[in-house]
Amino acid sequence: MGKLNGKVAIVTGAGRGLGRAYARRLAGLGAKVAVADLNLKSYEEFEAEAKAMTADSTVAEIEAAGGSAIGIEVDVCDERAVNAMVERVVGEWGRVDILVANAGGGRGRPLDTKASTLDSGLLQLVTAMNLFGTVYSVNAVAPHMKRQKGGKIVTVSSVAGLAPSVDGGYAHYGAAKAAIAHYTKYLAQDLGPHGITVNCIAPGTITTGRIVAMVMPGSKDANTNRADRVALRRLGDVEDCAKVVEFLTTDLSDYVTGVVIPIDGGLVRSA
Ligand SMILES: NC(=O)c1ccc[n+]([C@@H]2O[C@H](COP(=O)([O-])OP(=O)(O)OC[C@H]3O[C@@H](n4cnc5c(N)ncnc54)[C@H](O)[C@@H]3O)[C@@H](O)[C@H]2O)c1
Repeated sequence: MGKLNGKVAIVTGAGRGLGRAYARRLAGLGAKVAVADLNLKSYEEFEAEAKAMTADSTVAEIEAAGGSAIGIEVDVCDERAVNAMVERVVGEWGRVDILVANAGGGRGRPLDTKASTLDSGLLQLVTAMNLFGTVYSVNAVAPHMKRQKGGKIVTVSSVAGLAPSVDGGYAHYGAAKAAIAHYTKYLAQDLGPHGITVNCIAPGTITTGRIVAMVMPGSKDANTNRADRVALRRLGDVEDCAKVVEFLTTDLSDYVTGVVIPIDGGLVRSA
């Protein structure tokens, strides 16, 4: 018996990267998993992600391992589409016990996104993908979890949402991720009386295909070893985060709510 047998989970942004690792881990624990992504084959965009795949989608990987999954293409910025996605999951499996609101990310370059010169279009896009996408996903699952008198929600911030960059770059992303961390604390107060826990993870530098291909070579730290600023002297991998998601979605965390857990190996952000 897996710890999550009989449970239904939704993981947004699970077509590749961290979301894929969360979906696979929850399925491995016995949950039925809805893999929700803008593009269920988003892994094709990055060589390292495509290489890591053992089947042609996260859903196919879970099924090949004996688990249950459905794939739903959805833009988390579209509230109606998010509601329809959750209704489809509940229609198919009758309930929803776990939400990992992982879809999101940044856009633009740190140099062009300093706090005092933010472009309003980029600010809106990144706030929509991260903060609004999280809120829409929560709004859609909350009535079901309340009815069930229980549930576990994990939101996704970033170390960029906990402390600023040294030069004030990527401020739109940092602000959106800070908002998610704080929203999580309000949400925990709201949903706690219903037996629902809500916690936030704040990953550091995790070597997903996108980070390896785009962020590390293009950053101002490209020629320095980022791991030097990490107490554990290594960057994170997706399983480092998936283990914490396992903790936050199983009974191990039943009396934990409203917290933000950095998963950064002991990163010191300032130079
Ligand atoms: N990788 C890191 O180092 C790191 C660090 C801190 C925080 N995070 C956060 O973790 C989450 C996952 O990061 P990742 O590195 O795996 O990212 P990624 O870009 O590799 O994967 C994100 C996935 O989300 C999907 N997605 C993007 N926008 C969407 C939308 N509007 N609707 C539905 N799906 C959408 C993409 O198609 C993709 O499959 C993000 O919220 C990111 O901000 C990552």
